[in-house]
Amino acid sequence: MALQPRLDLRPYFQTLDDIDGPLNWESLFANDNPVEVEVGAGRGLFLVNAGLSNPETNYLGIELSYKEGRRAARRIHKRQMPNVRVLGGDAKLIVGERIPVNSVSAVHVYFPDPWWKRRHKKRRVFDDVLLQGIRRILIVGGNLHVWTDVEEYFQVMTDLVRETSWFGPQITPAERAAEHDLDYHTSFERKKRKLGLPIYRAMWSMLEK
Ligand SMILES: C[S@@+](CC[C@H](N)C(=O)[O-])C[C@H]1O[C@@H](n2cnc3c(N)ncnc32)[C@H](O)[C@@H]1O
Repeated sequence: MALQPRLDLRPYFQTLDDIDGPLNWESLFANDNPVEVEVGAGRGLFLVNAGLSNPETNYLGIELSYKEGRRAARRIHKRQMPNVRVLGGDAKLIVGERIPVNSVSAVHVYFPDPWWKRRHKKRRVFDDVLLQGIRRILIVGGNLHVWTDVEEYFQVMTDLVRETSWFGPQITPAERAAEHDLDYHTSFERKKRKLGLPIYRAMWSMLEK
């Protein structure tokens, strides 16, 4: 059986190998609208819903797994969304070095992998290195959003943020019941809500630097 040629998902999906030096929002989105970044975009439900609801905002999803990133990008390609892009690569590197300083109005981190085993915990994406990168890219007044079903990881993340004093008070975003299967914040939120698990949520605004 002949293999199907792989769908060319550019410009919706690219990897760091496709981009030299720092990211350039104007060349990625062909406008200078505000940019929001999602760390660990998975299958892209947040990117699609947010991108459709806010056409004047650009969204970049960063995803370590090219397979998942391509899956997210297929949804975006299907809808030909001009304001959403997925970049395959490590968020710590991309946020820490490749995204221009003070150029992002929000960072979203939803259901980051918990890496339960003690010896694996250093693989967790949300740590002091990522947080320094987030501080680097967020504009003053920009927002950091974090959701997880893992209470212990939520505590770690909120403690890390609080220890920096870079952000204003912690806010808990309101909950809203989903009206249909695609009306969830992310695919993992759907999975965890259907198991009846509580979802821990926090949002902070970046103070003066
Ligand atoms: C549990 S999934 C959640 C996906 C999505 N946010 C959701 O809520 O449905 C976590 C995702 O983060 C990605 N990820 C883990 N470490 C990462 C890193 N260092 N950089 C970018 N993505 C990462 C994983 O590949 C995975 O797709």
